[in-house]
Amino acid sequence: MIRIAVVVGTRPEAIKLAPVILALQAAVDIDVKTVLTGQHREMVDQVMTLFGLKADADLEIMQPGQTLTDITERSLRGLEAYFQTGRPDWVLVQGDTTTAFAATLAAFYQKIPVGHVEAGLRTDNLYNPYPEEANRRLISQLASLHFAPTPLAVANLEASRVTGTIVHTGNTVIDALLYVAQQQPAAPLSDQRLLLATVHRRENWGEPLLAIATAFRQILDTFADTHLLLPLHRNPTVRAPLQATLGDHPRVTLCEPLDYGELVAVMQRCTLILSDSGGIQEEAPALGKPVLVLRETTERPEAIHAGTAKLVGTNTITIVAAASQLLSDTAAYEAMARAVNPFGDGQAAARIVAALQRSGA
Ligand code: UD1
Repeated sequence: MIRIAVVVGTRPEAIKLAPVILALQAAVDIDVKTVLTGQHREMVDQVMTLFGLKADADLEIMQPGQTLTDITERSLRGLEAYFQTGRPDWVLVQGDTTTAFAATLAAFYQKIPVGHVEAGLRTDNLYNPYPEEANRRLISQLASLHFAPTPLAVANLEASRVTGTIVHTGNTVIDALLYVAQQQPAAPLSDQRLLLATVHRRENWGEPLLAIATAFRQILDTFADTHLLLPLHRNPTVRAPLQATLGDHPRVTLCEPLDYGELVAVMQRCTLILSDSGGIQEEAPALGKPVLVLRETTERPEAIHAGTAKLVGTNTITIVAAASQLLSDTAAYEAMARAVNPFGDGQAAARIVAALQRSGA
């Protein structure tokens, strides 16, 4: 029996690890435990329920206004105790959050090998995204199995001269997307062209966020047949400026974070997506929706090369120009709205389980 502890901190980790946990549960020679650090509270619980998952342990580390040090310190301590008592054969982490980094370090201190799901993403800019570029580089140096979503990620890991084994698996986000799309969640109905936006990244806090919100207002004022749906991240630092700039606009809906099923339904129904999220850059191409990426860098150039995503940064004029072109020029829109899938085929979780079985206890 191979004993595996899967550590989950934030919503994107829950989404991308859910198909892996389900596949591990289905394997007869594997015993899987799901450990929540609690970095995110409500947003992770929603995803766990959607996939029918229950946590085996919850470290409940979340505090209002938590700093990166708070998350790291509290996760490290909690996971040290958990790993010492349970001593899993493998620890699985996902992506580049502070939970993923702290779990990797805690496992390394216990000499427990780490499998890293979605390994090998890079922008080569330590401060963008911050702190995620540093987190994923640090995890790569400590992990023993690197599950790379794309050939580019494999090449990045090779260039980083990581120890351990690199396995090209595809991205588990596509497994999750197919699972949820199958359940055919209900989409909102309206005559207006729906724009979906999400913003939360730390490097966009402050001025960039205001510039983004101003761009949204200008787009709505230019195109009277558009409606903006903006689910607000739980972080008050992100919510306040968006509420102040957009809250009174008649064609803006600011809502609580959608559950993943609702979000997928809105993505399927909308005309255009404006986002700084990583996962959405992977999901939108699979659904044939153009995405304007509200960031200066991306670790997912595959979507840009495929022509379905455009990096527009956080400058108001640039964002408005790019959105205006897509909303007024059918040929430009059709060129971007093609369903392509550079990130995976929905079988990533099965490949991850097989690689763990080959590696044994
Ligand atoms: C974190 C990750 C980021 C990921 C994002 C997804 C790090 C450093 N960042 O950023 O990589 O893309 O999650 O959302 O790990 N809060 C709640 N309830 C929740 C979630 C958040 O109240 O369910 C509030 C808390 O006040 C918290 C704040 O949001 O202090 C910020 O959360 P935090 O996890 O520190 O950073 P994120 O910006 O969410």
